[in-house]
Amino acid sequence: MALVRFGVSIENELLKKFDNFIKDKQYTNRSEAFRDLIRQELVQKQWQSGAKVVGAITLIYDHHKRELVNKLMDIQHDFGELIISSQHVHLDHHHCLEIIAVKGVSQKVQKLADSLKAVKGVKHGALSMSTTGAGV
Ligand code: NI
Repeated sequence: MALVRFGVSIENELLKKFDNFIKDKQYTNRSEAFRDLIRQELVQKQWQSGAKVVGAITLIYDHHKRELVNKLMDIQHDFGELIISSQHVHLDHHHCLEIIAVKGVSQKVQKLADSLKAVKGVKHGALSMSTTGAGV
């Protein structure tokens, strides 16, 4: 794809903050950081408009909690068409880490993540959404 150059007017203070941000995030130049910020905003907009997304749901839970594992399993079967794969790691005597790879319409993926996070005994749950970049 052809690159287009354009000028940006920006306050000195804001540019300093941007440069610090770039340094923290280990970007090698301003252009790449700027492109990523634009893509991030556009991806965010796609999510809100019912776009297809891919992502990962991460759960930490205590498997000793009554009925918890069964509930998590039931929910995953209910949303079976969204789930590509899942990985289970036994962290210690009590805790499990589960990483579920998902693909589908953003609202449904969000609903699946919310349902899993809401189960009693789930100590932490996070959804990381992304797209393949198509159209962004
Ligand atoms: Ni486990």
